[in-house]
Amino acid sequence: MRNIGVIGAGHVGLVTAACFAKLEHNVICADNDSQKIEKIKNLDMPFYEPGLEEIVKETIRNKKLILTTSVSELTEKSDIIFIAVGTPSTPDGSADLSYVENVTIEIARALTEMKKIFDNKIYRLIVEKSTVPVLTGEWVKKTLELMSPTEIEFDVAANPEFLREGSAINDFLEPDRIIIGVGSEKAKRIFEELYAPIKAPIVFTDVKSAEIIKHASNSFLALKISYINAISQICEKVGADVEKVAEGMGYDKRIGKDFLKAGVGWGGSCFPKDVAAFIKMGEDIGYPFNLLKEVQKINKEQRLLVIKKAKELLWNLRGKEISILGLSFKPNTDDIRDAPSIEIISLLLKEGAILKCYDPKAMENMKKIFPDILYCQTPYECVKNSSLLIFLTEWDEFKNIDFEKIKEIMKTPYIIDGRNFLDRDKLKKTGFIYKGIGRN
Ligand code: UDX
Repeated sequence: MRNIGVIGAGHVGLVTAACFAKLEHNVICADNDSQKIEKIKNLDMPFYEPGLEEIVKETIRNKKLILTTSVSELTEKSDIIFIAVGTPSTPDGSADLSYVENVTIEIARALTEMKKIFDNKIYRLIVEKSTVPVLTGEWVKKTLELMSPTEIEFDVAANPEFLREGSAINDFLEPDRIIIGVGSEKAKRIFEELYAPIKAPIVFTDVKSAEIIKHASNSFLALKISYINAISQICEKVGADVEKVAEGMGYDKRIGKDFLKAGVGWGGSCFPKDVAAFIKMGEDIGYPFNLLKEVQKINKEQRLLVIKKAKELLWNLRGKEISILGLSFKPNTDDIRDAPSIEIISLLLKEGAILKCYDPKAMENMKKIFPDILYCQTPYECVKNSSLLIFLTEWDEFKNIDFEKIKEIMKTPYIIDGRNFLDRDKLKKTGFIYKGIGRN
């Protein structure tokens, strides 16, 4: 059993803290947002993630997880400190590392204070958990060396997190692999012990390689999606079916069937930010990563495709009622960061369309960006009198919609399936004019 600190109570931080607490470690999680910390202490989750609430409740109640706003309290109480603060994009695409720098300085200050009080030997393992560009670990190490007393022993390691929103708990507890970049045997042994209950291959590397593995993996997945989206455009032009093409490709084990789902493209808090940061990092070190620039461009085009299809169906959009089902960047989350829906809604509004929306979880977040569009309580209320229904997120709930009823209450039976997840043949039989992505 270890004393673990996690700085940052965002998606990665809170899931990491809760899961380590679930594994019986003593965990302290810090965030400088006092409202957020209060909320969690009151067992009210700051975001929706299936299964998280139960684990947080259980571990707060059995005192395995405690919450604080104080990095110095956390530094004092933890032998292993995970940095899981945000690394948002700056306008030039690079990751803003000021939060990582600030917490590093706070840790160094706390260690300095501790040294004044405690006489015994102090060791801390500081771990990057957030997605950071290569060489961040070196900066963290330099900063700690510069700012904390020389008697304090520490290691800096990189242990990037690969969890996906919506399946974060499972991804943490049953990952495909665990990546650990370390420079010392002592740190390596701590990680071996820490992750012993999790059955997954552990890849030990140097810190820089671990940092690159995270960016390279996320960018590769974004590339894979953009690749199938490019194929979807070819399919549309010749009347082929991208779903069949993806199925045929996916059986090849070297390609694999995952992340070959064509649609309105990738969004979320990771892919857009990480691809941009990887491109910028390449530029900084003298490698123009043009392949990834094309990956971004294809992703943008997928969003525009929805507007093109809407115009093909309705001619003019001005004054027409259009319904959107699904706002979150993917199902099972209320997260709308960089969701395709945001850009698509902006473009439809620019065209003069009247929008009505529904999402099982993400409407409150969307209201902050678009307060003036109409939000509905049910999909049926949303589609009443609409000229066009657009699906942007493949929530399970939408698969069970009564489409006969939908057809009756819509003005014209047009559907754009932005995620290719509906039963196309059934919809056509019901009398809908259906347009998918890369298949008609
Ligand atoms: C991603 C990575 O998968 C995860 O390993 C990393 O830690 C964080 O970033 P996440 O952003 O939660 O996770 O979502 P993910 O399930 O990967 O989907 C990302 C986006 O790609 C979504 O907008 C999704 O709709 C889209 N997507 C995914 C597709 O368009 N097609 C696919 O085949 C798969």
